[in-house]
Amino acid sequence: MTLRQVSEDAIPLARPVVGEAEEERVLAVLRSGRLSLGPALPEFERAFAAKLGAAHASAVSSGTAGLHLALRAVGVTDGDEVITTPFSFVASANVMVYERARPVFADIDPVTLNLDPGAAAAAVTERTTALLPVHVFGYPADLSAFEELGLPIVEDACEALGSVDADGVTVGARGHPAVFAFYANKQLTTGEGGMVTVSDAALKERIDSERNQGRAPNMDWLDHDRLGFNYRLSDLACALGLAQLEHLDDMLAGRTRVAAAYGEALSGIEGLQLPCPDAGLARRGWFVYVVQLPAGFDRDSVVRALSERAIPSKPYFPAVHLMSYYREKFGHREGEFPVCEDVAARSIALPFFPEMTEGQVELVGRTLRDVLGR
Ligand SMILES: Cc1ncc(COP(=O)(O)O)c(C=O)c1O
Repeated sequence: MTLRQVSEDAIPLARPVVGEAEEERVLAVLRSGRLSLGPALPEFERAFAAKLGAAHASAVSSGTAGLHLALRAVGVTDGDEVITTPFSFVASANVMVYERARPVFADIDPVTLNLDPGAAAAAVTERTTALLPVHVFGYPADLSAFEELGLPIVEDACEALGSVDADGVTVGARGHPAVFAFYANKQLTTGEGGMVTVSDAALKERIDSERNQGRAPNMDWLDHDRLGFNYRLSDLACALGLAQLEHLDDMLAGRTRVAAAYGEALSGIEGLQLPCPDAGLARRGWFVYVVQLPAGFDRDSVVRALSERAIPSKPYFPAVHLMSYYREKFGHREGEFPVCEDVAARSIALPFFPEMTEGQVELVGRTLRDVLGR
């Protein structure tokens, strides 16, 4: 059985596109005996940087690891404040806590669902040392507005492979450290994994060293000249990534096609908010298809009702500041970020993957319509 032959019966929430190209690349690494720190690592980094038009790229073991190293690389440290969005995956804020910095949340834009530049500006204090905007659901954050604040920026591009920002620049190529993630539901997967793109060779060197226990490139394993982590990505994973890169354009086009089909299947459902359309030069690199339910519906009941009809969905994202850890550690409460809280309470992710058929999209659309009674 090839990896492609999986059950066609049930609609999954997400499904990677992996086939013979992936099998061949991974087998070649297995046969080579160089399973880690071999040639596939720099090959994947160079191919990824070239694809995006970035100067350098460093492969790491996850998006979270990449965000952690990128924050360290721009100098975030103990006691600093870093401004970010509460409408993201929890990793965006967790990485600040790893460095004993404080995540300072600011509310989001109700249309793009990204960090609102005005709210971010209002949250700056003398302790603010960086901004961490997230390109939520692949829609590019307003980078030129954040740049006006004059602070170092780390872009959480974990959901934004294939996105283009409002100035027409490919996300990852603007010059700020930008972090991508390769978990199995992402536009490109290595199973687990991530990549940091940077414009500066010295930053790449620092990130490469810190992902490998603080070892410099010219140093043997007996001495390490700084603190580091084991955030390496294996050559097996890099081989998978290289094969995925070769058909990335097709996979992205597949996601765009499925998103367009959803736009039709869900049109006219009163009160249902669909992902915002691209504005100006901005292009969404489609990652998930998230809708906000009309006001007055209980989101969890809708998720349950869909599941009873064999359609998987999930609440996505829950607000980070209202998670138990963040409530307890930082004293956050309901009402602090009303736009985020309203959006988070009504958001569900529907099944979404490049090979989803029009028939599957229509079925999801019909079922959601039925469940909502609209
Ligand atoms: C916005 C965002 N940030 C960070 C991450 C973390 O990536 P990883 O799961 O590879 O650590 C993800 C992954 O789901 C994400 O969606």
